[in-house]
Amino acid sequence: MNFRLVLLGFGNVAQGLAKILIEKRAQLRRDFDFEYEIVGVADIVKGSVMNKAGGLDLARLLSLASEKKTLGDYPGGTKGLSSIETIIESDANALVEATWTNLKDGEPGLTHIRTALNEGLHVVTTNKGPIALAYHELAALAHQRRRHLRFEGTVLSGTPAISLATEALAGAKVSSIRGILNGTTNYILGEMEDGRTFDEALKRAQELGYAEAEPSGDVEAWDPAAKITILANVLMGGKVKLAEVRREGISGTTAGDVREARLTGRRIKLVAKAYEENEQIKAQVVPERLAETDLLSHVSGVLNALVLSTDVQPDVTIIGPGAGGDSAGYALLSDLLALNRALTTVKGSAKSRYYRPAYAGGILRDIF
Ligand SMILES: NC(=O)c1ccc[n+]([C@@H]2O[C@H](COP(=O)([O-])OP(=O)(O)OC[C@H]3O[C@@H](n4cnc5c(N)ncnc54)[C@H](OP(=O)(O)O)[C@@H]3O)[C@@H](O)[C@H]2O)c1
Repeated sequence: MNFRLVLLGFGNVAQGLAKILIEKRAQLRRDFDFEYEIVGVADIVKGSVMNKAGGLDLARLLSLASEKKTLGDYPGGTKGLSSIETIIESDANALVEATWTNLKDGEPGLTHIRTALNEGLHVVTTNKGPIALAYHELAALAHQRRRHLRFEGTVLSGTPAISLATEALAGAKVSSIRGILNGTTNYILGEMEDGRTFDEALKRAQELGYAEAEPSGDVEAWDPAAKITILANVLMGGKVKLAEVRREGISGTTAGDVREARLTGRRIKLVAKAYEENEQIKAQVVPERLAETDLLSHVSGVLNALVLSTDVQPDVTIIGPGAGGDSAGYALLSDLLALNRALTTVKGSAKSRYYRPAYAGGILRDIF
């Protein structure tokens, strides 16, 4: 099918997707009948450009970004529309939402997603804010508007987490979840094992670009708390609120704590968990002293890991990159391909030479 895409936010992740879309255009067409054109891009700092008749040249958009020019420098197209105007006026059929994560009120991503669904667009996003804060509302809106909302990249970036459970493990009931969902803190804890203090390890993480100048989202565990909220609500049917997640970061963890744990054959890891207690789904993120027999204790550096316990498969573990523009860009592509399968697969007539799993959340074949 032909996707007419609007990109909101043209930072690392959207540019990661853009590179993959350019590199893989022929492969996507050949193997998946996946065609695309970019009909609009809007970004707070870089400006906006829309061309609903002929589409935009992605390579040109990427060069403008790398030359630090604005989208206003794109030759042709309609300039200066806001994000909302771009959604409404571009005649797009899908929104790629990759603006910055805001865990206080989810904005501006929340309004972007609501508007797009109301306007009849499917939505793929890597933005944790709207999904952590308003998953049930957005899922209900998508259902009501008969549109798809996918957000693979919100957890574990391009390493499958949501689709691992909902598609690869379709039919299995997730009974509990454990994971290392934040690479920055995992890196810092590893550096502390190598003898650095918390401050030295944080500084190194900042120099390497793993940690923000304002690091509280990571070290105070807001980021993994948002991710475990998403997993608890999406995979376990929870009604978990981010503000109520038991959350303890690693800023209180000292080099002495890390050394002492090593002396007893243990490792301190920031572990996110979702579990059922008194018929309620609960979530927490807390540093734990893990025994060496625990697979999570061996996940090092900026890697992320997720262990899903289900009724039919005791523990399924996936380990992989949990951040990076290219990785999260790939997550967006995997969501677009899933959307393509869901919208084009007709029973018994799948054209792809590859296996196409069924869409695990609904049947939408009659939209375009
Ligand atoms: N990078 C990763 O490793 C990763 C992995 C998984 C998920 N994510 C999520 O993916 C999203 C994008 O991340 P990123 O790394 O690409 O961030 P980024 O490089 O900071 O890009 C975000 C872009 O969105 C723009 N933006 C903010 N508000 C906007 C609005 N109202 N309308 C249009 N554009 C707006 C930002 O402009 P400004 O320059 O003005 O801020 C920026 O250009 C975030 O929500 C992030 O949490 C990132």
